[in-house]
Amino acid sequence: MSQTNRNILLGISGGIAAYKAPILVRRLREQGANVRVVLTKGAKAFVTPMSLQAVSGHPVVDDILDPATESAMGHIDLARWADEVIIAPASANLVARLAAGMADDLLTTACLATTAPVILAPAMNQQMYLHPATQANLATLERRGVTLWGPDSGDQACGEVGPGRMWEPDAIVAAWLEWVAERSAPQPLAGQRLLLTAGPTREALDPVRFLSNHSSGKMGFALAAEAARMGAEVTLVAGPVALPTPAGVTRIDVESAQQMLDAVMAALPGQEIFIGCAAVADYRPVAVADNKIKKANARMTVELERNPDILATVASQPQRPFTVGFAAETDNVEQYARDKLTRKGLDLIAANDVSQPGQGFNANDNALTLYWADGHKSLGHSDKRQQARLLLETIADHKACQ
Ligand code: C5P
Repeated sequence: MSQTNRNILLGISGGIAAYKAPILVRRLREQGANVRVVLTKGAKAFVTPMSLQAVSGHPVVDDILDPATESAMGHIDLARWADEVIIAPASANLVARLAAGMADDLLTTACLATTAPVILAPAMNQQMYLHPATQANLATLERRGVTLWGPDSGDQACGEVGPGRMWEPDAIVAAWLEWVAERSAPQPLAGQRLLLTAGPTREALDPVRFLSNHSSGKMGFALAAEAARMGAEVTLVAGPVALPTPAGVTRIDVESAQQMLDAVMAALPGQEIFIGCAAVADYRPVAVADNKIKKANARMTVELERNPDILATVASQPQRPFTVGFAAETDNVEQYARDKLTRKGLDLIAANDVSQPGQGFNANDNALTLYWADGHKSLGHSDKRQQARLLLETIADHKACQ
């Protein structure tokens, strides 16, 4: 598929992989993209502006203080012109400058001035890549919504072996085509407000201990990411998980079931869809000790009380959103799921058989079956992002019929 007329601002920073940049420009143009190139100072040691000008068909710019460049297409015009910014290779130094929000050359200035998505193809020595400073910088950028393509692992120009090889131009073009196709896909949830819970909850025993479970939050975060991609305005109430916030999603972090309920009820007015995906602890300790509990006897007893049921509470509101729950079962999946659907007063429930290896809790894949009052649908086995897409499409269809 030709992606005619997408405007790509291609940034090139200083690294040996920059020699592949002219091929990347050609491949992107073969797909119909308009490519304008911005070099950092370091990049010019590896690739010449002249060759990039020849393959891109546009003047190549590198100097923010060049009056000729600024009068033609300056940094703000470039930033506005771009549909996406791709930086390949992205060196450790460039990654650090972007993470710090610096604007000390044309490329970093354009990145600060643009509203277009920024994608990095990192390339550097494996030790530099693995250094905690670089890892922290990459994590900061990801949290801000920057997309990372690569790096690959393997032989490096410096003779070492490890992670830090830039993706090949063909792999970058393939990823870009997929990325663009995803963004131009239909948005069946455009303008809808969707609230969901994800991850486990923690129920404190004392200031240092808690009861919890193994929920990774992956399914809920995949739902949040996919709903945002489908055009929804997403609020994600998340228990303690180690996952980055998906692009375009508003996240509220909580710990206990009570805090999760409070956050959900505060965010609920005006929501059109609610999905309870969190593995909420069913019970919490009756008393939370003020100080660390000391070991004394061979046995100790902890008295627990029931937590509020967040999903059932939402479903019982007079003006409630389309309400969807999850059921993780090890046997009699349909019977238990349907029972939950009725008992909690839901519009739809997504059930998974957690006795099957490789799906459900903590896994990357899932195989959901959806049940509603007068029907059901199996989503087959796939990764959680695909399951999320299929579930959200079903929700959109049901809402359209309401
Ligand atoms: O009753 P059970 O915990 O099996 O139900 C699972 C569904 O209910 C999930 O959607 C989960 O997010 C939700 N739930 C809840 N609050 C609870 C317990 C479960 O929202 N206290």
